[in-house]
Amino acid sequence: MVDKNKIISEGLTFDDVLVIPAFSEVIPNQVDTTSKFSRNINLRSPFISAAMDTVTEAKMAISMAQEGGIGVLHKNLSIENQVHEVNKVKRSQSGMILDPIVLKDNALVSDALKIMKENSIGGIPIIDDNGFLAGILTNRDLRFETNISKPVSDLMTKKVITIDFKNIDSAETILKKNKIEKLPVVDSKNRLKGLITYKDIIKSQNKPYSSKDSFGRLVVAAAIGISDDSMERAIHLVNSGLDALVIDTAHAHSLNVFKLVKAMRSKFDIDIVVGNIATSEAAKELEKLKIDGIKVGIGPGSICTTRVIAGIGVPQLSAIMQVSNSIKDKSIGVIADGGIRYSGDIVKAIVAGADSVMLGSLLSGTEEAPGEVIIFQGRKFKTYRGMGSVEAMQAGSKDRYFQDFEKDAKKLVPEGIVGRVAYKGSVSEVVHQMSGGLKAGMGYSGSKNIERLKKSKFIKISSSSIIENHPHDVNIIREAPNYSRK
Ligand code: XMP
Repeated sequence: MVDKNKIISEGLTFDDVLVIPAFSEVIPNQVDTTSKFSRNINLRSPFISAAMDTVTEAKMAISMAQEGGIGVLHKNLSIENQVHEVNKVKRSQSGMILDPIVLKDNALVSDALKIMKENSIGGIPIIDDNGFLAGILTNRDLRFETNISKPVSDLMTKKVITIDFKNIDSAETILKKNKIEKLPVVDSKNRLKGLITYKDIIKSQNKPYSSKDSFGRLVVAAAIGISDDSMERAIHLVNSGLDALVIDTAHAHSLNVFKLVKAMRSKFDIDIVVGNIATSEAAKELEKLKIDGIKVGIGPGSICTTRVIAGIGVPQLSAIMQVSNSIKDKSIGVIADGGIRYSGDIVKAIVAGADSVMLGSLLSGTEEAPGEVIIFQGRKFKTYRGMGSVEAMQAGSKDRYFQDFEKDAKKLVPEGIVGRVAYKGSVSEVVHQMSGGLKAGMGYSGSKNIERLKKSKFIKISSSSIIENHPHDVNIIREAPNYSRK
């Protein structure tokens, strides 16, 4: 006898449905793709780079935020190094750099050269022992200096043009008028408060949709796991100016994760995103813990083996629908994490109820993803690996798979693989294509914004339709920048 109560529902994923076209009053370039990552973080483009060590470090996070999305810095790094990545994002392009790198006036030219190289910066404000601005040292001041043991005070520009803290709106005018690159921000007593650079102003004009915090700095999130140092890591990250903490585990519907979420919630005011889950029960329980975002996906990822190793999972489209239908507080951001192969999957994830999508494989292989380009049989590739692969777990992600206790690499039970992906050029090109596909979907479904897109309907399709969906009955002689058969 078959126990009918054993199979509780049908599971669907992206390839099982299509979004039904509907009457439209908008064309793709008129739609608004603004959505949310979490309660307090809105995105002009609802794309998030995955917290994976072959996807998101500062370079990726900077590009994602510039393109109107956000990056989640992975945690296979020491606390110090993860904080350093946050700092790189926060300093990269900002209305005002709040804590610019400075040197004391008795520092040496060698110190200045080292700091400039390490941080890729061209100028450093020089302060005295009491924090008063003493001068500014730029590449130009150092260009012809051969004695690296000289104090920087001998070479720095002492007559510095500055701007008052209360007046920063006129920074661009002052920079242009004086033909200078860097403008230290000071208080009425000449104490250094920040730095504004011309390069940043130009960058932000070129990227008007970038995701920024209230100080005009790019937004960034970072992952923490379930390990002994989680709280310490979180404290350092929050103090570094992070915008959202992402508690990233393979199974968030579990006691230890709940305990950590409660502890973090009572301690921090910033947005807390928790994942991953795939059921209504998990969503309802997490909602009670007053989280700000929820990440959905058990096993849909391109490098995941959880479903075959553990036999566990929920097809991703059903998981998104179950979670988003169960959450009452609609300001919680629902993030569809994993399994997105084409821009059409992004449209389907949103119609299923997601506010944004997290991308791993689609962003791996870009210039900004960590890792070297490998040439293989004349073509360019990059490595992309699961955080549950043996290699990644050894580098620090054992706790994501609750195997933190295991010291012997041979005894690790991996839930991911190591792969190779084609080199894809810049993040900006990939996001352009993903955003273009999303906008096209919005046009076809008559959706002027994301809220309207969520109201669209699906048609369930057959396997013959999947064949019809893709190019068929022709030999592809040139793949499109947004399409290759996977
Ligand atoms: P995509 O499909 O975009 O998926 O490449 C990225 C997401 O997959 C998750 N992830 C894993 N899941 N084993 C898993 O079961 C792994 O080794 C693994 N590594 C990453 C993660 O949620 C990521 O955002």
